[in-house]
Amino acid sequence: MADNSAKIDINGTAQDYGIIDGSVGPQVVDIRKFYANTDMFTYDPGFTSTASCESGLTYIDGDQGILLHRGYPIDQLAEQSSFMEVAYLLLNGELPGKNDLDTFTNTITRHTMVHEQLSTFYRGFRRDAHPMAIMCGVVGALSSFYHDSTDINDPVQRRIASHRLIAKMPTIAAMAYKYSVGQPFVYPRNDLSYTGNFLNMTFSVPAEEYHLDPVIVDAMDKIFILHADHEQNASTSTVRLAGSSGANPFACIAAGIACLWGPAHGGANEAALNMLREIGTPDRIPEYIARAKDKNDPFRLMGFGHRVYKNFDPRAKVLSKAATDVLDKLGISDPVLDTARELEQIALKDDYFVEKKLYPNVDFYSGVILSAIGFPTEMFTVLFALARTVGWVAQWNEMISDPAQRIGRPRQLYTGPTMRDYVPVDKR
Ligand code: CMC
Repeated sequence: MADNSAKIDINGTAQDYGIIDGSVGPQVVDIRKFYANTDMFTYDPGFTSTASCESGLTYIDGDQGILLHRGYPIDQLAEQSSFMEVAYLLLNGELPGKNDLDTFTNTITRHTMVHEQLSTFYRGFRRDAHPMAIMCGVVGALSSFYHDSTDINDPVQRRIASHRLIAKMPTIAAMAYKYSVGQPFVYPRNDLSYTGNFLNMTFSVPAEEYHLDPVIVDAMDKIFILHADHEQNASTSTVRLAGSSGANPFACIAAGIACLWGPAHGGANEAALNMLREIGTPDRIPEYIARAKDKNDPFRLMGFGHRVYKNFDPRAKVLSKAATDVLDKLGISDPVLDTARELEQIALKDDYFVEKKLYPNVDFYSGVILSAIGFPTEMFTVLFALARTVGWVAQWNEMISDPAQRIGRPRQLYTGPTMRDYVPVDKR
């Protein structure tokens, strides 16, 4: 890191703060001593200008529409690698050689079963519970099962917990689906790939053989890769913040799942497809564009806009092409895809969307593909959580190993009442 400095003038007194270079991207002003020096906090709701940590995992250039994992562009990873390879890359920093990949895949495969007692948890949920509600509860419950991997200061235990989370998430997600449709849980199969096994646990039934379609396995694997990590987004920051207190790793991931569920974050894929279905036909698009632009209407075009990307979301580019490929190969003609394409074209030419730099994001096309594969909309965010677990555990590991790590403890601009005396209830 090459240091130089920024002068900040506070009430006529100049102060020097170091400027730190990353390997690429904006420099940061090191304000760690700012409060001690000035008795002032900095104010940054939504953390739009605040780097909360140092990280070597994922880099985003929002203006150029670039997303790199450990330096590798997302489109190359999506087109040429596998989800297991990307998981290894994010966790270990380098692409694996063949032997390392085989060993890693084998380790993950051998952790896919969940404790049999865990399956009884599902019966406590209503059959119509949202699967994300089930995921929050069941993943949190993992912390009561695996006591041999909770010493977060031991790298070996951290690794075991990470492998367990990556391996068990597909099983837990598939069980959430099976529970909602009233079908028996399907055990994992070690002869299948990570993604093939997940699809088998989701869609197979004991009554008949289930044939994995390589087109679907490929598309699903691509979707997992595209959702694997995305630097310090809301759910990842939640995992880091929860983990910064030394909390149980399974509980930290449950916190991440809770955050991801929101419609402004991972829940947008479900909301985007529901919106496209509600629009129904291209002739109704202008009505929805007008609503999105109306300041008095809270409606937003779901699957549009991003805090960081002010140019195309590179993940959306890959998915836009994949949506056509998958529907073509499966011989499905879905009017929702036509509506999506038309909406994209109209919005991209509209002054409001152009000025605000609002482009389709990863959630805009993923729903069309997931629906073609056969997932109900409520499962979309679950699939996002499954894939993002890789990023969450990699970021959590990075945080715990960082010597600069401290408990996350933001400050505030207090605007409530100043000190006043308590008044007994009969005098109020
Ligand atoms: N439709 C209409 N207007 C929008 C939209 C949208 N989808 N997104 C942003 N705007 C407007 C917004 O009203 C605001 O206008 P103004 O400056 O006049 O008040 C301006 O654009 C900036 O919006 P913002 O809310 O300040 O931007 P943000 O960076 O805080 O929010 C966002 C980013 C993704 C939450 C937001 O664009 C949004 O709500 N999009 C729809 C939900 C969505 O698709 N989320 C998925 C994000 S990608 C996957 C993930 O991260 O999980």
